[in-house]
Amino acid sequence: LKEEAIQKATKAQDMRAVQDVKVEYLGKKGPITEVLRGMGQLSAEERPLMGQLVNEVRNEIEEALTSKVNELEAKLLEDKLATETIDVTLPGRPVKAGSTHPLTQVVEQIEDIFLGMGFKIAEGPEVETDYFNFELLNLPKNHPARDMQDSFYITEDILLRTQTSPVQARAMQEMKGEVPVKIICPGKVFRRDDDDATHSHQFMQIEGLYIDRDISMSDLKGTLLTFAKEMFSDDQNIRLRPSFFPFTEPSVEVDISCILCSGKGCRVCKHTGWIEILGAGMVHPNVLEMSGYDSKTYTGFAFGMGVERIAMLKYGIDDIRHFYTNDARFLKQFQRM
Ligand code: PHE
Repeated sequence: LKEEAIQKATKAQDMRAVQDVKVEYLGKKGPITEVLRGMGQLSAEERPLMGQLVNEVRNEIEEALTSKVNELEAKLLEDKLATETIDVTLPGRPVKAGSTHPLTQVVEQIEDIFLGMGFKIAEGPEVETDYFNFELLNLPKNHPARDMQDSFYITEDILLRTQTSPVQARAMQEMKGEVPVKIICPGKVFRRDDDDATHSHQFMQIEGLYIDRDISMSDLKGTLLTFAKEMFSDDQNIRLRPSFFPFTEPSVEVDISCILCSGKGCRVCKHTGWIEILGAGMVHPNVLEMSGYDSKTYTGFAFGMGVERIAMLKYGIDDIRHFYTNDARFLKQFQRM
């Protein structure tokens, strides 16, 4: 019996077969159990001898089974190692890392420049009321200058903001007549424009506002000249041309001289030698008064620029839509800029 069991155990090809042998010989219905059950009928002298014999047989069968199990496990592991070899000397697959969007990078550059001049950053809602977006900025209902910014209305009184100037109105109200108010407002704005190479129905603006006693046009010019030099190049110059905005008086359009420098070199543009980059002016007395500032005591300047335009000039980008289409070939050029 023992020999037979051991032989079967040795021949077993897999774990199942080993288990079958175990059940057959050592299980509840197996011969060993049967012999143990019959022990009661033996005499007192025979019993220990028989017990010893049975134990020996059982131990030997168990040993044979265990060694078979070990052997099978070792073989399984070997097979696995043979089929699943990993060549650790192969080069790894490159993980594609994302990078900061060029627009975000330019916003951060502009923010840094103005933070350096003591401005704080203010933000506000993209869905605005007509009151903050227009009325508080000296653009009452039916004012013709509303046509300068064709708007997306949600209801009669709520719209997607067309400029970040409402953030300035909100900031003035929060300051409750205190000075200085010295903020820049970066954010998305929305206008009903047909999209083409230079227009987008959604774009980014950064507007600035500085209110205090004795703020003058020369403060505006100095601030913007510093900005232009830091953004483009030390040799940069600016020029102010008279213009119109409902919320500033006088109003100007600001041109930079056409030496456009990025970290990747400078370009000189042709034609007049000047290129427009932003609108600005002295805050209109009505705007000051409506938000709680006495226009006889305080004056201020404001300016507003399109971030895409600045980025396009700086990096020689020819189509505004590149910013929104997420073409990796475009975005890659701005990695670690
Ligand atoms: N809000 C103006 C615009 O979007 C820009 C601007 C801001 C002009 C402040 C003058 C002063 O066109």
